[in-house]
Amino acid sequence: MTEGMAELSARAATLREELERANYEYYVLDRPEISDAEYDRKFRELVELERAHPELRTPDSPTQRIGAPPQGVLAKHTHLVSMLSLGNAFDDDELREWTDRMARIAGDSARGDYTAELKIDGAAVSLTYEDGVFVVGATRGNGTVGEIITPNLRTIRDVPLRLRTNRPPRRIEVRGEVYFPFDAFEHLNAQRASAGESLFANPRNAAAGSLRQLDPSITAARGLRFYGFAAAVPDGERMPFATQWELLDALVEWGVPVDPNRIHATTLDEVVGFVRQVESQLRPSLNFAIDGVVVKVNAFSLQDELGVVGGREPRWAVARKFAPDIAVTRLLDIQVNVGRTGALNPFAVLEPVEIGGATVKLATLHNEDLVTTKDLRVGDWVQVKRAGEVIPQIIAPVPDRRDGSERKWRMPRKCPACGTAVERDEDGVAVYCPNVACPGRRLEGLVHFTSRGAMDIRGLSYARIEQLVAANLVTDVADIFALTVDDLVSLERFAEKSAENLIAAIEDARTRPFSRLLNGLGIRHVGAGAAQLLARHFGSLDALASATEADILSVHGIGEATAHAVVAYFQNPTTRELVKKLRKRGVLLEEPRARVTSGALAGKTVVITGTLPSLSRQQASELVEANGGRVAGSVSRNTDFLVAGDAAGSKLDKARSLGVEVIDEAELLRRIRDSA
Ligand code: IVH
Repeated sequence: MTEGMAELSARAATLREELERANYEYYVLDRPEISDAEYDRKFRELVELERAHPELRTPDSPTQRIGAPPQGVLAKHTHLVSMLSLGNAFDDDELREWTDRMARIAGDSARGDYTAELKIDGAAVSLTYEDGVFVVGATRGNGTVGEIITPNLRTIRDVPLRLRTNRPPRRIEVRGEVYFPFDAFEHLNAQRASAGESLFANPRNAAAGSLRQLDPSITAARGLRFYGFAAAVPDGERMPFATQWELLDALVEWGVPVDPNRIHATTLDEVVGFVRQVESQLRPSLNFAIDGVVVKVNAFSLQDELGVVGGREPRWAVARKFAPDIAVTRLLDIQVNVGRTGALNPFAVLEPVEIGGATVKLATLHNEDLVTTKDLRVGDWVQVKRAGEVIPQIIAPVPDRRDGSERKWRMPRKCPACGTAVERDEDGVAVYCPNVACPGRRLEGLVHFTSRGAMDIRGLSYARIEQLVAANLVTDVADIFALTVDDLVSLERFAEKSAENLIAAIEDARTRPFSRLLNGLGIRHVGAGAAQLLARHFGSLDALASATEADILSVHGIGEATAHAVVAYFQNPTTRELVKKLRKRGVLLEEPRARVTSGALAGKTVVITGTLPSLSRQQASELVEANGGRVAGSVSRNTDFLVAGDAAGSKLDKARSLGVEVIDEAELLRRIRDSA
């Protein structure tokens, strides 16, 4: 190494150390000692250095948290030791019963010496460190086998890429919870709402969904956090500590953040006091969801003696769950809004009430059935819950408080937005407005049409769409393609430059594949997945529009409700007009043929049947296509091979009778891997 190079290498090492230290102070100790600006400066210097001299880059460099390429599918990881779940105790008596059960097995020594920690309501993960370096991160999965999400976990800044210890165990799995802070969660849902995307019901779902993204840059943008609470070493090896309390301290020393709100208790009364204080005082002030306190026997030797019930729940730990946050208030009215597919969704208007620190005025009611089943009447006193779920729900009315003035409610027979007679879904539960041009669904429909998963027209925000509709420039999705720069600059707050940009974005969207357009149209039951299957099968809008229900049903993965909805949609005269307009405005109505022609499966026709052990049907099809193969719906002499999973039926028989090769998922993956 030249002298100059040695100097640069030393500088990179110093920067890495300083950045790691800053991360540790910030995320684990919660005591930052350098400013954000200084952190950024050092970070940029290191990025520059590594860019100019890639040989200086190390896998555990703080710069390596982002930038991993998207994965195809998530691979599996077998946990070193099973990830257990927990039994529940819903009150203090049940907590005492738990200690009684333990005492019957291990005697009175089980009646003292506990730890009590917050039960964080997120997604459980395991982080494998080999010689102190983070090598594999996985979801809990079924407790034995999880999915590998290492690149995603690397993007979470409080997951240490290297443990801060001179003598780390050779191999250790750190277990903990990835969670979504409330503020980041609300920000994400606000963004999704304005992009016309579906909302996450609660931070837990959002955390789990974000972790399983195939593209780590999406995970990185979400602001996830992590707390550790357990660890496992290979069977036969011993943890270098004797108690849970020592383990938690060691995790902190190693750079793994552990929630500071925890106690080491010698009596159950102390635990009971801690639970009360967490529930009444701490919980409302936290920026993340917890759903209880986990109480554990402190000594590992006693944990071993007590063991695990049914291979799933340890006897030595219990989740003391909180009562859900409930309030009682008046149900003032039940109103209905029209969604983008025309579905009529009732919601409750409540007398404003405080629950868990937030004022609740509205609650979702989902559908008419729910109102009937719960016998909700306008004017009722109702119990409202907001437990972790961000969207409040009505649990039940309080019939004792009725005075006879309450009114039963029925779904309106006419659409509240356009007056068209409503129709009922085949399953009888959903009620919808069949008018494709209903102004109630227009706005949401336009927003969906322009969203990222559909036509992806940047710069057409919710507010702008509202503006265009109000100015009568846009009444249906086809009108978007007739807009001109002059139209736009005539509107308020539209500068010439942004008008030009928007017109360019619209121009760009004209040639999106038909599958995107189809998703954007907002046909009932046709989301991104179904749109892709249909577009690939039929190849063009014209072919799909003239297909019968039977034709559509023959597409693998498409069910009756979808087939019915598609045919009904294209029979509607308003749809026919819309299609004409789209064609006239030069919108692409065809699906380009798959471009991948090289790869392990180039030129092969593959049929997939049965339940595969790890891949969904869709994932398997995508994998085959990404490697140059073609997926067909039925076995014929032209089939190169059949990939068969569990419960494969007639296709397997047919393949055997025709002498077509039959392989399993493992073999498929092997063929793809071996040629890569
Ligand atoms: S201990 C016995 N400690 O709760 C070991 N779990 O319902 C089980 N959880 O899957 C885990 N906070 O994901 C433990 N402080 C904590 C926890 C915690 C949240 C989750 C964990 C587990 C689930 C069990």
